[in-house]
Amino acid sequence: MSQSPSLPLDAAVVVAAAHAEGVSLVVLGPEAPLVAGVSDALRRSGLAVFGPNAAAARLEGSKAFAKEFMERHGIPTAAYGRFTEIKAAHAFLARQPLPIVIKADGLAAGKGVVIAESQEEAEEALTRFLAWGPVVIEEFLRGEEGSFIAIIADGQVLPLAGSQDHKRLADGDQGPNTGGMGAYSPTPILDIAMSERVRREVMLPMARALQAEGLPYRGFLYAGLMITESGPKVLEFNCRLGDPETQPLLMRLDSDLFLTLLAAARGDALPPELQWKKELALCVVLAAPGYPDAPQLGQTIRGLERSLDGATAKVFHAGTRVQDGALVTAGGRVLGVTVLAPSISAAQAQAYALAQQIHWPGMQLRHDIGWRARARS
Ligand code: AMP
Ligand code: GLY
Repeated sequence: MSQSPSLPLDAAVVVAAAHAEGVSLVVLGPEAPLVAGVSDALRRSGLAVFGPNAAAARLEGSKAFAKEFMERHGIPTAAYGRFTEIKAAHAFLARQPLPIVIKADGLAAGKGVVIAESQEEAEEALTRFLAWGPVVIEEFLRGEEGSFIAIIADGQVLPLAGSQDHKRLADGDQGPNTGGMGAYSPTPILDIAMSERVRREVMLPMARALQAEGLPYRGFLYAGLMITESGPKVLEFNCRLGDPETQPLLMRLDSDLFLTLLAAARGDALPPELQWKKELALCVVLAAPGYPDAPQLGQTIRGLERSLDGATAKVFHAGTRVQDGALVTAGGRVLGVTVLAPSISAAQAQAYALAQQIHWPGMQLRHDIGWRARARS
């Protein structure tokens, strides 16, 4: 995520605004305010807050912190080494099989990960990332990815439905990594049995470990998973909902989100489960030209005039603003075209029919969101 100046990172400003508005619950969305300690300040001022304190948000803010935490508590994840110094990193790298994964330690909005197919590529990434700070070198995991998000509150775990993101820019999972070009829920990779396994092997032990380490946690915990032959393994944690996983998840949610988050924020008992629509929801991201490296902004968005039946189709705004009376692009990922439909093929047909009506010069989108579910149906 970009460190946009409009992000609410100044804790004093957020606390003052929340009190001035008399809000009963503050939900922190993005990771930067969480890592900056905005939750801590809001809680200290007596407000009900959904979103972990800065100490626990290091699970997202530092890959090394997350890896060490998982190692201490036996949470399944890829084998790794952490380095701050080039000589030791090179020596470790020379002993690893290829491909190998090189990760920058801090927040990098999905751009701090290189899957190196050769030693040269690995060394280039290593040198580049070490100039910024610590680096994690990680075993390459084979399998299919899934996103599993749960509400964690004082050791309680309330899972959301499973979903699947599409991280690469281009069709067929080609091109550079992005924040996510589309998502859908539910996903066959996180069926009932696998979801139960993730709850038992990842989420419950994480909730207990956070308590045990004196890191009280009331917020979403997002596990980016690789479902390998030997079971689920954690690729990353986020301390928030995923983007674009949230768009399909919220289209499917039947329970009252506000009351659930308020209960979690107050430390009350959570319901045993959330209610979900049976249908499938699918989101196609419309991105700016040049995304993810250098998105070109300020282009007029056309084709959004048609009104939609909000229960089955919604266009979520991510990077837009109004300029001289026109809606223009204002971020790398601009819109999330999201539909609710009885099947994966119907969802794809409806989402792409809607996406086709929207345009600006150089608009980017993937044409195969949901392809893994489609291949299995
Ligand atoms: P991360 O930001 O750690 O989730 O990494 C971004 C993407 O890189 C993931 O969604 C995966 O597609 C890929 N990736 C990260 N770590 C690994 C790994 N250990 N093995 C295979 N792929 C990985
Ligand atoms: N879609 C992945 C994320 O929100 O980090």
